[in-house]
Amino acid sequence: MKHLVTGFIAAAILATGAHAQQNIVVGHALSPSSHYGVGAQAFIDTLTELSGGTFTGEQAPAGQLGGERDMIEGLQIGSLDLVVTSTGPLGNFVPEVFALDLPFLFRDYDHARATLDGEIGQELLAKIGENNLVGLAWSENGFRHVTNSQRAVRTPEDLAGLKLRTMENKVHMTAFSGMGASPTPMAFPELFTALQQGVVDGQENPVTVITASKFWEVQKHVSLTGHVYSPAVVLASPVLFDGLSDEQKGWFMEASKASAAATRAEVNRLEEAGVALLRENGMEVITDIDKAPFAALAEASYSVYTDQYGTEMVDRIKAVK
Ligand code: PAF
Repeated sequence: MKHLVTGFIAAAILATGAHAQQNIVVGHALSPSSHYGVGAQAFIDTLTELSGGTFTGEQAPAGQLGGERDMIEGLQIGSLDLVVTSTGPLGNFVPEVFALDLPFLFRDYDHARATLDGEIGQELLAKIGENNLVGLAWSENGFRHVTNSQRAVRTPEDLAGLKLRTMENKVHMTAFSGMGASPTPMAFPELFTALQQGVVDGQENPVTVITASKFWEVQKHVSLTGHVYSPAVVLASPVLFDGLSDEQKGWFMEASKASAAATRAEVNRLEEAGVALLRENGMEVITDIDKAPFAALAEASYSVYTDQYGTEMVDRIKAVK
């Protein structure tokens, strides 16, 4: 009798496909060889290994599934499984996350990583979880710098009148208005052509992205302004994640941590090697930048966040050692 019951259960599991293999698509904006691509592949490899092949995965790179905002919407409705995205458009869905996009807030990579790996990072992942998304781990894009086709930018005066593509993020847009540029929000997949056709003069992104996107083909000058730290996050669809067993959820969490670690290692490597690569490809790299006047003008953007949430989170982030 006992064998008969076990047999029925096994047959039922097979019939419902509970042990069937599932392929997870990981969407992101950049090439498979970029820091996001390296992180996406680490996620896939770790998940496949931990699950003994129950889960496999593939990348949907280079914005194949749309801009980051579109991909986040896809997660919410369950048309996408998993996305590695910057926080650029995420504040539109989870406004508390705007705190991380405030300019000149993080001192350096150690400060940013310690914040995201600590209590604050966990709190913000939980906030993401309250907005029909699953925040699995903090990954990384990097400190952002300004590139343009017109002139060497050393001071805020040099930004005056430059049409600068920003992410669809009101903190960034307010900061660049304050610093004197004309911010033009645009989804990343449209950016290269917009730079090529002169729809915008410049853009801002980390060295990781400038190199991965070969922006030297359409931009002459890069100023290492480091005006904002750009976190990335591994997000899953609740439609997928809520249907997993606890063990499977654990595999996804582990795979996300492996993804973030691989991405950060690649950011480290490119921060070292990337600037030389920009020069080799003909860009003028401006390093002698006094950040203080930029920071003073960008400060107006803090109110986008603090008017709603006060200054407590900003003070807590500044206090992280
Ligand atoms: O500029 C952006 O939109 C983002 O930095 C990018 C390149 C999509 C990476 O998250």
